[in-house]
Amino acid sequence: MGYDRVIEEIKSRIDIVELISEYLNLKKTGENYKALCPFHSEKTPSFVVSPSKQIFHCFGCGAGGDVFSFLIKQENISFTEAVRLLAERAGVQLKGYSRDTEGQSRRQTLLEIHRLANEFFHRLLWEQREGYNYLTKRGIREETIREFSLGYAPGGGDVLYRYLTKRGFKEEDILASGVCKKGENSIIDTFRNRVVFPIYNMRGDVIAFGGRIMHESTMAPKYLNSPETILFKKSNELYGLYHARKEINKKGYIVFTEGYLDVIACHQAGIKNVVAPLGTALTEQQLRKIKPLCRKVLLLFDSDEAGVKATKKAFSMIYENNMEGKVLLLPEGDDPDSFIKSQGAEAFKKRFGHAEGIVDFFFSTSRSTEVETIRELMQIVSRVEDGILRARLVKDISEKASLPEIFIREELMKQRKGMLDTSGSFNRSLPANSVDEMLIALLIGHPEYLDKVKEQLSPDYIENEMVRAIYTKIIQTKKDDLFAIINEDEKALVSRLLLDITFDEEQLDRNLEDCIKRMRERRLKRRLKELQEEMRIATERSDRELLTGLQRKWTELIKEGQQSGIL
Ligand code: CTP
Ligand code: MN
Repeated sequence: MGYDRVIEEIKSRIDIVELISEYLNLKKTGENYKALCPFHSEKTPSFVVSPSKQIFHCFGCGAGGDVFSFLIKQENISFTEAVRLLAERAGVQLKGYSRDTEGQSRRQTLLEIHRLANEFFHRLLWEQREGYNYLTKRGIREETIREFSLGYAPGGGDVLYRYLTKRGFKEEDILASGVCKKGENSIIDTFRNRVVFPIYNMRGDVIAFGGRIMHESTMAPKYLNSPETILFKKSNELYGLYHARKEINKKGYIVFTEGYLDVIACHQAGIKNVVAPLGTALTEQQLRKIKPLCRKVLLLFDSDEAGVKATKKAFSMIYENNMEGKVLLLPEGDDPDSFIKSQGAEAFKKRFGHAEGIVDFFFSTSRSTEVETIRELMQIVSRVEDGILRARLVKDISEKASLPEIFIREELMKQRKGMLDTSGSFNRSLPANSVDEMLIALLIGHPEYLDKVKEQLSPDYIENEMVRAIYTKIIQTKKDDLFAIINEDEKALVSRLLLDITFDEEQLDRNLEDCIKRMRERRLKRRLKELQEEMRIATERSDRELLTGLQRKWTELIKEGQQSGIL
């Protein structure tokens, strides 16, 4: 029995309603179940589970799929891990179906390479004094070096590469891990002559490194990160999160700083719920990653112009995610590390009591008029979906500006209405179904039509990219279970279509014909438009020959359209 069969077997033994009820409070409504979505914050349930189709979908945030998709999102694990967990639950033996997928074993190999490289760097830090001296000079204590497993990457070019090769790793895997790279004519270590900071994922595996030069220089970049690999995407990770997770939980908020050494300095000063992005501005993915841990964020940024701008951007993202934020600006030119060094840990901690909320911050840093500042704030407030949070912000603004709340509310209504008008509906809700979606929904529910459609529509008739990808997959596969061949993003889309679009069984033929007709019409019009553009260019260039050819094509297309009743 192959891996696919195992997946099917697991699915057949697990009921999605039973599984999800262990996490959520499901309420039966008609044929389906509903709950508050665990993947975004909401007050009225838009998370739907269908027992007959064995899928779930959230009409608020668009998440959706099968039992595997749910666990992947809920537990923040990989597909293979979800398979393992559910196999256990279903009592299906996984051993022996040795598609411990190729990708998965690759992942394991890369994790092993990182584990060894980390040990190697860390050992060298104690053995060769250069890195150790640098860190000590910067005030980092031995216990901290151990806790964060800081290391030293020697010069010399390929010390790590040789070490890993001797341990039996293949060149291909070492390169894929990013710890070594192709040099001009040989393979060299990515980190040379630097102190290194291992970057951990949430589970405590090292998945990348950051490295800092030890002598200021204009030649080499001060910091260097591992390249993106299958383990590491820098916009998804946060330095220090693994070490901070318990304290974040305990304190109920997370502190964002800017750099590796700021995280470490704060940690040493006893503030341990601290993380930093990896040399970029805070991203949406990073926020989503911490959202299950806590809903409150403290930004600890520079007070220079760039810092103020970064803070505004971060605030906007935080509130758009229905989270709350405060900010603590340090004196210009200071970062947490330098501040702690010059003023001491106690003075630093004292500052935490003076963190500013979003409203105070916008007012205190504003260079524009009060009215403009309020408008700027309202733009953010209007995108907050959580009504309580929104009400609190309105109150803060009205107090700060000494304006009755009613004025602020009125303005807010206008802005939210504006959003409604332009985007069709608020609440990131999904656009009306396109003809592409109708077609694919019909085919998923009624695969018996597939052969007929395949003959008439090549994938390039479909404009929506994801739908096109799904269509391409289903016309090529022989498998019955569609969910076995599409990826998680595609599952989210398909689950929506399955729940959202129903067809009158009597009218299937007509619906299908209608879809096909509309898609052919769309394509014909597009080609006519392109042709028109080409003709315009040909005319400009006075290329008579080309123009005649194009005109002939034009006539043909028109005729074709008329014959098939499209035009
Ligand atoms: N950074 C980077 N590449 C650089 C410079 C900075 O990736 N060339 C990232 C690092 O993650 C660094 C953060 O941006 O920690 C903040 O940079 P910066 O403020 O310049 O450095 P500090 O963290 O203050 O580092 P240090 O105190 O060691 O100078
Ligand atoms: Mn610094």
